[in-house]
Amino acid sequence: MDIFALLWIVSLAFTGLTEGAGVLPDGPLNAAVGGKVMFTTTQTPGTTFVTVNWKFEYEGRITFFMSTGSLELRNLTLNDIGEYSVTMFLPEAPAQSGDTRLDVYEPVTNVTVTSSSTELVEFSSVSLSCSSSGSSLSFLWLNSSSEVTGSDRVQITDGNSTLTIVNVTRYDQGPFSCQVFNPVSNGTSDPLNLTIYYGPENVILKISPPHKHYQEGSDISLMCSAVSNPLAHYTWFLNGGLLSKGSQFNLINSQKNQSGSYSCQAFNDKTLRYETSHPATISVLALVTNVVVTSEPTELVEFSFSVSLSCSSSGSSLSFLWLNSSSEVTGSDRVQITDGNSTLTINNVTRYDQGPFSCQVFNPVSIGTSDPLNLTIYFPQGCSVGCIAGIVIGVLVVLGVVAAIVWYCFHDKKKPNKKLSAENTNARTGVEGQDNGAYTTSQELHNADVCFTKNNNGGTVQMGDQNKPSDYAEVRVNNNPRAAASSLPTYDAHLQRNKRTAPQPETAEL
Ligand SMILES: *[C@@H]1O[C@H](CO)[C@@H](O)[C@H](O)[C@H]1NC(C)=O
Ligand SMILES: *[C@@H]1O[C@H](CO)[C@@H](O)[C@H](O)[C@H]1NC(C)=O
Ligand SMILES: *[C@@H]1O[C@H](CO)[C@@H](O)[C@H](O)[C@H]1NC(C)=O
Ligand SMILES: *[C@@H]1O[C@H](CO)[C@@H](O)[C@H](O)[C@H]1NC(C)=O
Ligand SMILES: *[C@@H]1O[C@H](CO)[C@@H](O)[C@H](O)[C@H]1NC(C)=O
Ligand SMILES: *[C@@H]1O[C@H](CO)[C@@H](O)[C@H](O)[C@H]1NC(C)=O
Ligand SMILES: *[C@@H]1O[C@H](CO)[C@@H](O)[C@H](O)[C@H]1NC(C)=O
Ligand SMILES: *[C@@H]1O[C@H](CO)[C@@H](O)[C@H](O)[C@H]1NC(C)=O
Ligand SMILES: *[C@@H]1O[C@H](CO)[C@@H](O)[C@H](O)[C@H]1NC(C)=O
Ligand SMILES: *[C@@H]1O[C@H](CO)[C@@H](O)[C@H](O)[C@H]1NC(C)=O
Ligand SMILES: *[C@@H]1O[C@H](CO)[C@@H](O)[C@H](O)[C@H]1NC(C)=O
Ligand SMILES: *[C@@H]1O[C@H](CO)[C@@H](O)[C@H](O)[C@H]1NC(C)=O
Repeated sequence: MDIFALLWIVSLAFTGLTEGAGVLPDGPLNAAVGGKVMFTTTQTPGTTFVTVNWKFEYEGRITFFMSTGSLELRNLTLNDIGEYSVTMFLPEAPAQSGDTRLDVYEPVTNVTVTSSSTELVEFSSVSLSCSSSGSSLSFLWLNSSSEVTGSDRVQITDGNSTLTIVNVTRYDQGPFSCQVFNPVSNGTSDPLNLTIYYGPENVILKISPPHKHYQEGSDISLMCSAVSNPLAHYTWFLNGGLLSKGSQFNLINSQKNQSGSYSCQAFNDKTLRYETSHPATISVLALVTNVVVTSEPTELVEFSFSVSLSCSSSGSSLSFLWLNSSSEVTGSDRVQITDGNSTLTINNVTRYDQGPFSCQVFNPVSIGTSDPLNLTIYFPQGCSVGCIAGIVIGVLVVLGVVAAIVWYCFHDKKKPNKKLSAENTNARTGVEGQDNGAYTTSQELHNADVCFTKNNNGGTVQMGDQNKPSDYAEVRVNNNPRAAASSLPTYDAHLQRNKRTAPQPETAEL
């Protein structure tokens, strides 16, 4: 096998030897085991040679190319590694020679990555190693498609064939692959994925709809989420007590007693870690209903009475506001608001305190308002300029009416068949329970002719329908002088009639 051979070719002329200035490429030439190599000279094709002498290990696997003097060697083995040289004799030219080196490599095949583990918990470590057949191998690691470089966390050792990640993170799942090179070939491993378990973290409790307060009966949905691989398992707690499992918890037709502090806990069964959400407070409130104001007492005398109004309502988390007519009542020396604003006390009432008072009740989900309540306050009455003018006008009108009636009576006195349309029974019914004066008045009217009226301070006589041929008069007598000026009785009157029922305008209808 190891034969040094001298190859000859056509020899025509000999013109002397010149030291070859490198008719072969600089070496080494790299070739794979079993492959072939071409020793290509720098001669242009068609050169005429006298002699070409090739010096190399001969194995009978060669082809010589006449036109350039180049040589091809096939079915290479590791034994073909070595120095090769050539000397060329050209006609009428100095001899040329060259030498080079041939390296033969085992090609890269079967590149494989193995991992100490492919399922990892975050922050543990993992080692990947790359193996390949071939000679003179060099290794390169790829993370997805970018080259992995060493760092604190990432070590590349064993001539770059081992990749160690000291502290894996969730972002290290790869795919990792290994590329192997030698001068004649290269190979790439299959990609390898790492499964990295992490979490739970960022446990978030979401409430839908997102309110702080809910009406009793509303449907509330609580959802829990966490960053976790694999997906976390969730457990719900109310005020620290276990409620249920699952990523969602629904409050259907929520009740007041379901108010409280909710939280969810996430668990990862690979990392065996737990994490709990921030607590979320849910308050379920009953609506404000049945707002009622009661007062004690309701009838008062100015400057000598205190009154206490209390407001009651159903509902939860109530707050109260008092209105006097439409403006808010605020506390003062005279006015106290107590019992969490549910009681309004007015000391030393004045005539201006009759209200109407109402109570507004709030909670965060609703509002209710009571019916207005009027206080009846008795006070001594004076008479203003307007009142005096009113009385004067009233008196003038009455005098005019009296004059008209008197004139009418005398004018019609002679007419026969004059009828009085007045019903005693009605008159009596109308004055039932009233002062006897009313009865007396109607008696007087009955006994007197229609033309007579006891015009007792506000009594009026109205004429019947003027178009009717048969005339009659409707007589309306108000026999209670106190009721004439005002719907409210006077201070004195009230004192006299102390403890009687509410005063009514006293009228007798005839
Ligand atoms: C050289 O290789 C070819 C194919 O690659 C093969 O057919 C042949 O037998 C080999 N010859 C020797 C001498 O090894
Ligand atoms: C590839 O390499 C593995 C181990 O490195 C070996 O078990 C297997 O036989 C090799 N396959 C080939 C085709 O060389
Ligand atoms: C390992 O890889 C680095 C970067 O690619 C390279 O500089 C170094 O020469 C390699 N080491 C070996 C022993 O191949
Ligand atoms: C691993 O990495 C994380 C974040 O990159 C860091 O917080 C932790 O301290 C590291 N652990 C170790 C053992 O290096
Ligand atoms: C792999 O690539 C991802 C991003 O592409 C990066 O976050 C991660 O740190 C890389 N891992 C290693 C070991 O290079
Ligand atoms: C790997 O070899 C192929 C031919 O086998 C070549 O085309 C490719 O460029 C080589 N890759 C590298 C990175 O050298
Ligand atoms: C590895 O992960 C990539 C995406 O990161 C995916 O496309 C690929 O199918 C995975 N390969 C395996 C073997 O799981
Ligand atoms: C909450 O109240 C409802 C009635 O409103 C009652 O049926 C239920 O048992 C109560 N639940 C708790 C935990 O007290
Ligand atoms: C009630 O108020 C009036 C006027 O504001 C005052 O003159 C009187 O003294 C008060 N009475 C009491 C008992 O405070
Ligand atoms: C009572 O009302 C006042 C004024 O509106 C308010 O500032 C106060 O907080 C209320 N008190 C209560 C117990 O609701
Ligand atoms: C109610 O309002 C009237 C006038 O609007 C006022 O004179 C009176 O003092 C008020 N009473 C109370 C208790 O606020
Ligand atoms: C209360 O008084 C107001 C006027 O001040 C009046 O309009 C209202 O009808 C009264 N309500 C009752 C129930 O007496």
